[in-house]
Amino acid sequence: MFLAHLSLTHFRNYHRLELDFTRRLTLLQGHNAQGKTNLLEAIYFLATSKPVHALAEREVVDWQAQQEPIPFCRVAARVELQEGERPRSLELEIILAPRGENGHFAKQVKINGVNRRSLDLVGLMRAVLFLPEDVKLVDGSPGERRRYLDIALCQIDPTYCRALSAYQKVLTQRNSLLKRLREAPGASRARPHDPAVEAQLSFWDEKLAQHGSYVVARRHNFILALEQIARTRHHDLTNGLEELALQYVPGFNPGHLSAMEYELLRAGGEPSPQEWQAIRTPLAPQEVATHFLAKLASRRSRELAAGATLYGPHRDDFRFLANGRDLRTYGSRGQQRTAALSLKLAEVQAMTEATGVAPLLLLDDVMSELDARRRRTLLQVLDGVAQAIVTTTDWEDFTPEFRRQAQLLQVRNGTVEPASAGPQELEE
Ligand SMILES: Nc1ncnc2c1ncn2[C@@H]1O[C@H](COP(=O)(O)OP(=O)(O)OP(=O)(O)O)[C@@H](O)[C@H]1O
Ligand SMILES: [Mg+2]
Repeated sequence: MFLAHLSLTHFRNYHRLELDFTRRLTLLQGHNAQGKTNLLEAIYFLATSKPVHALAEREVVDWQAQQEPIPFCRVAARVELQEGERPRSLELEIILAPRGENGHFAKQVKINGVNRRSLDLVGLMRAVLFLPEDVKLVDGSPGERRRYLDIALCQIDPTYCRALSAYQKVLTQRNSLLKRLREAPGASRARPHDPAVEAQLSFWDEKLAQHGSYVVARRHNFILALEQIARTRHHDLTNGLEELALQYVPGFNPGHLSAMEYELLRAGGEPSPQEWQAIRTPLAPQEVATHFLAKLASRRSRELAAGATLYGPHRDDFRFLANGRDLRTYGSRGQQRTAALSLKLAEVQAMTEATGVAPLLLLDDVMSELDARRRRTLLQVLDGVAQAIVTTTDWEDFTPEFRRQAQLLQVRNGTVEPASAGPQELEE
């Protein structure tokens, strides 16, 4: 898989960009606020159909586009694929265009020129993005970790992507039903044992469990796979000093733990060796569904009182432990950063193993943050992939050897030019 061409129109600070990628490695250099992150974000947008930082998609539309008669934004790419003997190219495209008068944008996705759903785009050009703020995966909110898992899994498994999207729709509908029931006035207010309410909720429970159980089982099994690889990486990165563990903390007990073990896990307790054994058992969606349904049935009154769905993968989390200690609470900044890097490196390998193809690596200004050992490890991983696009503010963060191999580009105020003279010692 090779990203051969990128085309941007009114994407953040790029008014117009046509860029060919000619080598396995691309190194983009630029001062602050020139558009390095924006360029990687555009590529990642095509890979995942989600902007990286933006809360709303309209944020990626170039401010200057607002002055145009129709302020739209377009990101497109040509990806070369090698399937067996036959090379094939794939055109991916996202257009954001205004819809209505209220500042909303509609997203249009095209694959080889044909209109498709966002879901169909994800997984065609798989990418893993490394950011300086990846450390947030360790010390940030559960929501950030769920988002990370979802993006990684959606790129690997289209069934996951569909299950997740269906789950979210069902969740919204079930929540609004619970809210309505709670807010119903006096006498008509729902009681847990009202047969009409029971029937309505049971309908949504079934759907919630159907889609949610796939999400939970997949997340659990994926974290197991990631953990195995991340542990080795982390061991190497810390010179054998730290044993990394990843611990999935599901929003209800999916069946592999006793009630006490689950409570302990939720409360952030450190499991005993036997409990670890239970945690590391792979899960099947069917058994998860059974436990999910039982949980919902037994917590009816509580959910009616809350007016919201209290159990399910929308309440999931996962933890990083080094030598048995939770890094979110006890880790130093450096430990957290290393754990995040181990996770990302594991993701690259897990994705390669799951799909048979190495993902495109996007490294945003991460070298400067790393010490020599971590840099070396990261560069070794770059050696193993078909394509990597790397940004830096300083050419010197990369060895002359690396720079000789790479296509060198300079980013300046929303334009990208070949780095004409290149860094000095390359001339020598
Ligand atoms: N929607 C938008 N329209 C126009 N410009 C934008 C938009 N969103 C962000 N920008 C601008 O794009 C510029 C470049 O941002 P970017 O994050 O890509 O810089 P960078 O080269 O990665 O810098 P740094 O080295 O500081 O990380 C910023 O000055 C930002 O204000
Ligand atoms: Mg940046």
